[in-house]
Amino acid sequence: MSQRQHLLTVDSLNRERVDHLLRVATRMEPIAQRRQVTRVLEGAVLGNLFFEASTRTRVSFNAAFCRLGGSVCDTTGFTFSSMAKGESLYDTSRVMSGYCDAIVMRHPDQGSVAEFAAATNVPVINGGDGPGEHPSQALLDIYTIDKEFQRLGKSLGGAHILLTGDLKYGRTVHSLIKLLSLYGPLRITLVSPPGLEMPSQLVDLVTSRGHHVEQRNSLASDFSDLDVVYATRIQKERFTDEMNESFQGLSNDFMVNRDFLDQRCSEHTIVMHPLPRDSRPGANDLNVDLNGDPRLAIFRQTDNGIPMRMAIFATLLEVDELVEKEMRPV
Ligand code: CP
Repeated sequence: MSQRQHLLTVDSLNRERVDHLLRVATRMEPIAQRRQVTRVLEGAVLGNLFFEASTRTRVSFNAAFCRLGGSVCDTTGFTFSSMAKGESLYDTSRVMSGYCDAIVMRHPDQGSVAEFAAATNVPVINGGDGPGEHPSQALLDIYTIDKEFQRLGKSLGGAHILLTGDLKYGRTVHSLIKLLSLYGPLRITLVSPPGLEMPSQLVDLVTSRGHHVEQRNSLASDFSDLDVVYATRIQKERFTDEMNESFQGLSNDFMVNRDFLDQRCSEHTIVMHPLPRDSRPGANDLNVDLNGDPRLAIFRQTDNGIPMRMAIFATLLEVDELVEKEMRPV
């Protein structure tokens, strides 16, 4: 199976394919909101395999497949899978291919979803492979930015976008910065604690595509022309013991909160985050004091996960042109 039929990395997407997915996601909105129904995937089965913690990605892929008329089988965690008995990715993949028409997989090891996909003859979607990529998240993020910009009368050309937090281990920003680089030209500011910067090959890629990239270790600047701040959680689960010590008590300089938005940004700056945000004491990604602020787009962003994931399934399973014909009121 070619890379085109899987969604393992955003590297397989060009501007035309992303624009197509945005259009299909827009068509899916009435079904996602259950104003219309469709059965285009009736009889199809999704294998939803999550070997790392998830709420949004697992449940929204599940819901998206059901909204298209399909059914879902899933397994969560290594403990309840035969990988706990030493079964390989190859064998798991061959077995699951006999049961399912499409597979979503999340795994803690970078490259593992691609290894799994190489052994199967059904489309595989990478639901997050360690610090590697999270392509469906980046697609729903672009969809969200597009919708928010339409609402505000803005366009991506010339936009200023800030990515902040753990840019080293945050897989969502690895996929997002590559997708953003298909649009623009953009001004992209990257702010992270020292040691958690965006991988240099991604900065080089985006710069080579004509975007202006600036890297800093503090949010203490004027961001009055900022269109989007995209905050991310510090991915402590990927830290070594040594790193845990050196990042203990990480300063609140990286906290996106009401003060930051009111004092340094503008009334039209939208706030995004892939979620989950860390609500434990000492966490410093996105403060709850912004709850209720219309600039906070995080729950519009999670809602957008359903139509975008429906669009991904419909396109990979080649029913995207059928959906509109097969739609009917509830
Ligand atoms: N954004 C995201 O991947 O969330 P989950 O970890 O809850 O799936």
